[in-house]
Amino acid sequence: MNSTETTKPKDAASFAHRLLEWYDVHARTMPWRVPPHDHLQGVRAEPYHVWLSEVMLQQTQVATVKAYFLKFISKWPTVFDLANSDQEDVLKAWAGLGYYSRARNLKKCADVVVADHQGKFPQTFDELKKLPGIGDYTASAIASIAFDQPVAVVDGNVERVMSRHQGIKTFFPEAKAETKAMLAKILDRDRPGEFAQATMDLGATICTPKKPTCSLCPINEDCLGFKNDNAELFPYKKPKALKPTRKGAAFVIQNDNNEIFLCKRPEAGLLAGMTQVPTNAWNSNQDANEDTTDAPFVADWTHAGVAKHTFTHFHLELTVWKTHQIMTPKIAGWWCNINNIAEEAIPKIMLKVIKTAL
Ligand code: ADE
Repeated sequence: MNSTETTKPKDAASFAHRLLEWYDVHARTMPWRVPPHDHLQGVRAEPYHVWLSEVMLQQTQVATVKAYFLKFISKWPTVFDLANSDQEDVLKAWAGLGYYSRARNLKKCADVVVADHQGKFPQTFDELKKLPGIGDYTASAIASIAFDQPVAVVDGNVERVMSRHQGIKTFFPEAKAETKAMLAKILDRDRPGEFAQATMDLGATICTPKKPTCSLCPINEDCLGFKNDNAELFPYKKPKALKPTRKGAAFVIQNDNNEIFLCKRPEAGLLAGMTQVPTNAWNSNQDANEDTTDAPFVADWTHAGVAKHTFTHFHLELTVWKTHQIMTPKIAGWWCNINNIAEEAIPKIMLKVIKTAL
């Protein structure tokens, strides 16, 4: 479907002006950000911080990212430190954020920035995009926020704000290109990074998915969603395909030293190289409720419950079995004290499995 009611804001300067005036007062405080007043004095965000935070923000919300970001910059204060780090330690620090190839790419990208760019992030969208793990979104966010390049940045919040304001009826993500082109014309050329972050903050605090507080919005006077009282209909999105459910079984073995047996997932595929308890294949789809044939050894396994987790493309239900150690499984692995599990490269589903068993 094409946009039928889309209008370019009559006064582009005024759109950016109103947005930035609001941002000057209401900008959210984030540890990787430079507040508007300091930006005005010429202070700029550290590109390493912008890159780290933007990669993390693609995984989860600002509130969760803050703690991960602070952990990363305390462990690896500069891109040189990250390049010198151990991949395994980066995976451990990333554990819980999901989509672990992003953590591998973080290290690869730091390596390239140090080896090929003397530790300085390139400043343009095109150069940034050549780096490992940096796609359209991250390249535009870094170029704009760290280097004040006039590049439009479109994340979920920006999609919502602009589709409501402009009445964009094309479905997202197809409408991204159209939104980006339109933003490129109206963004503030003196403060492109703050323009982007102002749009994000507006989306996160006022132009919210449900019950937006339009009366407080600095750009409500020419917003089509507000005018037509239909803001909540935007952005237009196709209904999501139903995710299949996969099933499997997980085996928690505890010994007398308060330890459980852990092993590593294969180096390729889902959660590659991450830590887990022994499991069978997650696409076995068998109803594992009475079936321990895939256990690492024959024992008196107790059914502890079912741990559920949703990945990008499927729901997973793992039947959790537990037993006391009668032997060490004949697979490569190690014993880990229950109190030290959080220090492992352990994904959320495995924390749920262990919690179900203990
Ligand atoms: N979401 C992604 N990047 C962001 C940023 N820099 N500020 C606020 N929200 C964001």
